[in-house]
Amino acid sequence: MREDGLRKDRKKEHIEYYLKSTYKSSTLFEDVFIEHNSLPELNLDEIDTTATFLGKKIQYPVLINAMTGGTDFSREINRSLSKLAKKYRIPMAVGSQTIALRDKGSHDSFKVVRKNMGSEGIVIANLSGHASLEDAKFAMDLLEADGIQIHLNPAQELVMKEGDRSFKGILKNIEDIVSNIEKPVIVKEVGFGISKAVAKKLYDIGIRYIDVSGKGGTNFIEIEARRQDEIDFTDIYSWGIPTALSLIQCREISKDLTLIASGGIRTSVDILKALVLGANLVGISGMILRVLVEGSYEEADKYLEGLCYKLKALMLLTGSKKIEELKKTPYRVKGDLKDLLEG
Ligand SMILES: Cc1cc2nc3c(=O)[nH]c(=O)nc-3n(C[C@H](O)[C@H](O)[C@H](O)COP(=O)(O)O)c2cc1C
Repeated sequence: MREDGLRKDRKKEHIEYYLKSTYKSSTLFEDVFIEHNSLPELNLDEIDTTATFLGKKIQYPVLINAMTGGTDFSREINRSLSKLAKKYRIPMAVGSQTIALRDKGSHDSFKVVRKNMGSEGIVIANLSGHASLEDAKFAMDLLEADGIQIHLNPAQELVMKEGDRSFKGILKNIEDIVSNIEKPVIVKEVGFGISKAVAKKLYDIGIRYIDVSGKGGTNFIEIEARRQDEIDFTDIYSWGIPTALSLIQCREISKDLTLIASGGIRTSVDILKALVLGANLVGISGMILRVLVEGSYEEADKYLEGLCYKLKALMLLTGSKKIEELKKTPYRVKGDLKDLLEG
């Protein structure tokens, strides 16, 4: 019981400290230059932003990424986010369902997402790399989920006072899940990026969906550091692989890897650049949470409406009628991103 109570407090604090966080780092998307096309020979109403994800059609290649669940406050956040996901016909992942494995009282805070999105919506479950196959099945059944995210978060756990200190056996665990679950299994980071070597290990055990969730946005080292006062962690706030670098390197593994670019995605230009660099979809967490909690549902709606319109406009300005065509858009890489790729 005590552990569940702590988990609930932690969920609340994650939102609170995320909103208070101040450390700025970069995705390195600013080092990507996309060529403008002033003769696109296209009309705006021809631009098709639809894509297929987890076997269903979506209107925009944008995912509302894993954040919360488990408390009354989380239920209200999930309620608002899932209404928006339904309105824009985009997928949504819930936050870690570890609490739901034991606490029945938390179920509604997750189930509200499926309830709002209906059977045609894409709802994604979420558990940690320590989850068993039974846990994964339970988490998916609870949401009638279209897939499950397994998050890898060693950097966060090591800074979290009450966090995990053992990370052995996770790859084997994920292999057990991916080999025995029919629905897609997405492995994701939580803001520190997936390296090419880790992506290859995941690919070799059968993972075909990776969310790179790189550095440049939400920083769980800072969030966890603010929740304790025993060790000064400020010198490692800059840890992690920037999202653009992680994305380019994971894309080298295979064309048949579905890649989600998340971590610091805030603007339509970030979305466009991620898609040009080879992402199939982008994920947004922190930014939409901030607009919703510090602003309102209406502001979050306006934010998404703007993103969607500007994505369409930018597709036209690259001469791309469909999402797939963005991958042929000429681009150049400069600065730190170039150095890191060459190194
Ligand atoms: C308040 C908050 C809670 C989060 N909780 C989870 C979680 O339970 N499971 C998970 O996989 N990721 C979680 N994340 C990480 C996000 O899914 C994402 O990987 C990360 O925030 C980077 O994206 P961003 O920069 O757009 O926020 C959380 C993020 C935030 C802001």
